[in-house]
Amino acid sequence: MEPSVDPAAPILLFDSGVGGLSVLAELRTLLPDAPIIYTADNGGLPYGTKTEAQVAARVCGLLGRMSERFAPRLICIACNTASTIALGMVRDVLHVPVVGTVPAIKPAAALTKTRVIGLLGTDATIRQAYVDQLEAEFAQGKRLLRFGAPDLVAAAEAKLRGQKVDPEVFQRAAQGLRSQPGGEEIDTVVLACTHFPLVETELAEAFGPGVHFIDGATGIARRIAFLTQGQQFARREGDLALFTRDEESLAALRPALAALGLERIAVLD
Ligand code: DGL
Repeated sequence: MEPSVDPAAPILLFDSGVGGLSVLAELRTLLPDAPIIYTADNGGLPYGTKTEAQVAARVCGLLGRMSERFAPRLICIACNTASTIALGMVRDVLHVPVVGTVPAIKPAAALTKTRVIGLLGTDATIRQAYVDQLEAEFAQGKRLLRFGAPDLVAAAEAKLRGQKVDPEVFQRAAQGLRSQPGGEEIDTVVLACTHFPLVETELAEAFGPGVHFIDGATGIARRIAFLTQGQQFARREGDLALFTRDEESLAALRPALAALGLERIAVLD
């Protein structure tokens, strides 16, 4: 029999920045009473332009520290870049269930009618063997066009701070896929970075009608609900958003964080 879980033990969500909030939004609808610690490694943001070794070192090191300090019942790596690079390594060293974020190529392949799928991710994600494997397994007989769009990460960070974002950024991302051979036929776009659902409305405008966007958030939330089935939850106070670097603009994130029940902000010491 499984040992009983402390009802106050948090679910820990981890991302390089605010992207994981797109996963938290889905999780809140399924598990509204779950205590959450949201960790953003803003000191390492962006992950998408770093090497595999740099990302793996940060993710493994930080999640090791977090799990010792907060004894989470489950960790969710709410970041495609970190998951496609380091999920296996993290699972090897931590004695806690770890849920990763995998580009939603499987559901996209089931949905496309034109058989041409676009994938927007970070530069690091789109070059991972993990993505090649998903393509080989689930997108056979279909065309998967990939485009690295690091500007969208900065755009999502700015949007959640209430800052203005240049619409050119979204046009460039759409163009990056549309201009590839077959790109005009894309009817389904995988948002393979957790930041991107935060700017889905702007992307939809840039792509024009007839394009479906798919991300992994609902599937991840369901997986977490499944793995914590039967456990008790006790949320005692406003949940914590933890950052790895103090910066002035954190204050501007308060409304976006509070909307998801993250009422306390702290910086990792
Ligand atoms: N949110 C992250 C992802 O899902 C990465 C953003 C970044 O740090 O580049 O890939």
